[in-house]
This record gives sequence, C-alpha cells and structure tokens, in this order.
Amino acid sequence: MRNDAILGLCAAVLAMAACAFGQAAPEAKTAEQVFKNIQTLKGTPADQLIPAMQFISSSLGVECEFCHVQGKMDLDEKKAKTTAREMIVMMNGINKNHFEGHRDVTCYSCHHGASHPAGTPPVLETDSAEEHGKAAAPEAAKLNAAQIVDRYVAAVGGEDAIRAVTSRVATGNILAGGHETPIQVIAKAPNKRISIMKMPNGESITAFDGHAGWLGNTGRPAREMSAAEADAAGIDAHFALALDLKTMFKELRVGRPEKVGGAECQTLVGLRPGQPPVRLYFDEKSGLLVRMVRFGETPLGRNPTQIDYADYRAVDGVEVPLRWTLSRTNGRFTVQIKEVKQNVPVEDSRFAKPNSVSENETSSGFRLPGIQRTRRVRRVYS
Ligand code: HEC
Ligand code: HEC
Repeated sequence: MRNDAILGLCAAVLAMAACAFGQAAPEAKTAEQVFKNIQTLKGTPADQLIPAMQFISSSLGVECEFCHVQGKMDLDEKKAKTTAREMIVMMNGINKNHFEGHRDVTCYSCHHGASHPAGTPPVLETDSAEEHGKAAAPEAAKLNAAQIVDRYVAAVGGEDAIRAVTSRVATGNILAGGHETPIQVIAKAPNKRISIMKMPNGESITAFDGHAGWLGNTGRPAREMSAAEADAAGIDAHFALALDLKTMFKELRVGRPEKVGGAECQTLVGLRPGQPPVRLYFDEKSGLLVRMVRFGETPLGRNPTQIDYADYRAVDGVEVPLRWTLSRTNGRFTVQIKEVKQNVPVEDSRFAKPNSVSENETSSGFRLPGIQRTRRVRRVYS
C-alpha cells in the first residue's frame, strides 16, 4: 500500500492530524521540548508542529523532502528549510505590522500551492466570459440560523424519531488510495463512537468515549488523541448532530450560499470560543447536511478537513448518510456503509481505551463484545 494511502487510512474517521508520525499525547509540551532544532516556532504546542508542517507543504505544493533530509528532520542541510524560517519571521512581521496581529496573511496567501509564488496574473485561458456574465442563482428564501437547523432536524425525521434511535452499528468499506478495506462504525447516544478498520495486518481503531479520543492498532498500545484530534472526533461522535447543533456552538451564523456538487446549499458557520470555526452546508432542496468543513489550528495557518455526506437513506424513520468522503490537503477517503443496525445494545465499555489492542480481536472478523442482536434491527441492504 502506498504511503499516502496509509496516511489516508490512519486519518480515517478521525480526520485530523498524522498518526504516521506518532504524535505526542496531549500534554502541554512545547515544540522545542519535543523536537531537536526549533528556532522560529518556539512556544508552539508540540502537537501542532506536524500539522504546521502539513500546512506548509500543502501551501507550497511540496513534499517534506523539499526542505528536509528524510529521517533527519532536525538537520538544516537544505536551503529551502532556512528560507522557510525566514518566511515565517516575515509572515509574522507582516501580520503584526499591517494586520493588527491577526493571522490574515499565511504561506498560502502568497504561494497558492507553488514553491515560487506567481507575481503576474494569468491570461484568460478559456472563453469563460459567459460564466462570468451569468446571473447569480436566484436567492433562496432567507432563513436565519435557527430556521436552517430546524429544517435540518425535520429533514432527518423530526426530534421524536431522532431521539428514538440511541445506537447504530454500521458496516461497510473504506476506500482510500485505490484500496478497499472493511470498516465498522459503532455509535451510541449522546456522543460515543468507535470505528474499526480491518487492515490486512490487524485492526486500526479510532474512538471517542464521550470525553476523550484514542487511537489503536493491533498489537500496539492504544494512545490518546491530541487536543485537535479529540476535538474533531468529538464532533463526529455527536449521535444526534441535528439536535445538538444549537448547543454545541456558542454561536451559529448564516454564511454565504454555496454549491456542493452542483446543488445550492445554505451554509452555517459554527463558532466556539478558542476553537476554529466549523462550516456546515445544507442542501437547499432536502434540508440535509451535505458537507462539514472544520479546521485544525497550527501556528502558521489552519488545515482544512472536509467531509461530504451522501447516500442518505431512511432507517427506522431517521435519515442516515451511508456514504461520506473525507478530504484533507494531503489525501482523501470514502466510507460506504452497506448495512445499518439501530438500537442494538452496545456496552459503554466498547468505547473505552484499552491498554493495548489485542491480537485476538482481529482474528475472527468483526467480533463485537458487548453487542447482542435484538428486535428493532433493520437492514438497509446487504
Ligand atoms: C518549506 C519547508 C518545509 C517543509 C515542506 C516541511 N518542513 Fe518541517 N520544518 C521546516 C522548518 C523551517 C523547521 C524548523 C522550524 C523552527 O525552526 O522553528 C521544520 C521542522 C520540522 C521538524 C522538527 C525537527 C526537529 O527535531 O527539530 C519536523 C519533525 C518536521 N519539520 C517535519 C516535517 C514533515 C513531516 C513535513 C512534511 C509533512 C515537513 N516537515 C515539511 C520546514 C519545512
Ligand atoms: C508575502 C508573500 C509570501 C509569504 C506570506 C510567504 N512567502 Fe515564501 N516566498 C515568497 C516569494 C515571493 C518567494 C520567491 C522568492 C524568489 O523567487 O527568490 C518565496 C519563496 C519561498 C521559498 C523558497 C522556494 C524555493 O524554491 O527555494 C520557501 C521555502 C518559502 N517561500 C516558504 C514559505 C513559507 C513556509 C511560508 C509561510 C510561513 C511563506 N513562504 C510565506 C513570498 C511569500
């Protein structure tokens, strides 16, 4: 499997940072305490260093080796690395002196995915005058944030139907880098979730136990998520997201209407103190959530993660997306669910972080301790 595929898989379900680099646990260590040769990013939380590197790489459209000697990231052998340090200082200066200290200018503002920023605008390559001249789509009836959320709740099936479902066991495949891997996602109200990927060499687990997130791989000690990873996993774990939206954000603002896959969407921006915003896109026709974009904070800029929800089906009167695609700057994967069972009893212990992920869990397919089949079991298709 190619490296980026593995990266994609690592990120599966979790959406955030880079498990391939074995990020430190969420202690309040700074980058210079964990890494060997930090000069300009001193004081940065250690678990934001690799996300900052990913931000730099995608901003410049380069691989790590553009600046680093592979395996010896602390060396300063490549000129691009020292140039990057100067650029960080320059960028901080511009923001401090010209943008009241707001991080308005980032590497991406100038570089736009190129190591050498273009200084000249391009000529018009195609005759897209028609595109430009097109009148904007007629504005949808202006709804306020609460109305958009209410419409979403109704579209999912209404509050009573949503509350009547308290657990969900979904089985399907995850497609990344041309490889299909079986996956199971178990979720329980109000906010517990575990995803188990069956890799050829064992299981890869992403879980949120209601308070904290953890990651596990067969035969290895499970590890706690970084703060940013746990925040993302915690959002994904909201079992009744439609009902929780009004309370999980301090403020919901209506954003500009945007298109997702050709469909007009109403958008909301969810704000929480001390956290990057979360953008939500609701299909104007169906009222359902079709996209979520959230951001991982780094000292240099924010790394976006986009999740597109599709293939909504009614299961026990509640609309459930059976397909979702998670895209980041450095990879993407799609999960396609084939079978959903709801209101299956699931023990809370199923979500708890074990000391290590044991071998025998992997040997017999999806063995699910603590789950018995019961009545209200319903197959979507299989
Ligand atoms: C455009 C240049 C550039 C790219 C691309 C880049 N880095 Fe860096 N990296 C730096 C700079 C500059 C530093 C030192 C920052 C400082 O001095 O505060 C650094 C530091 C590091 C360190 C700390 C090493 C140590 O022990 O001191 C690691 C680890 C690292 N980078 C990993 C990565 C990874 C992984 C990637 C690819 C995802 C990457 N970098 C891409 C410029 C880059
Ligand atoms: C205000 C605009 C601007 C910002 C912001 C900016 N750069 Fe640059 N950067 C440039 C320009 C212009 C060049 C090309 C200089 C040249 O051609 O000699 C460049 C060149 C570089 C190079 C050298 C590329 C090579 O091929 O050797 C690196 C590395 C780099 N920038 C990294 C960064 C990083 C990392 C950030 C964010 C911390 C950043 N830059 C932010 C304008 C910017």
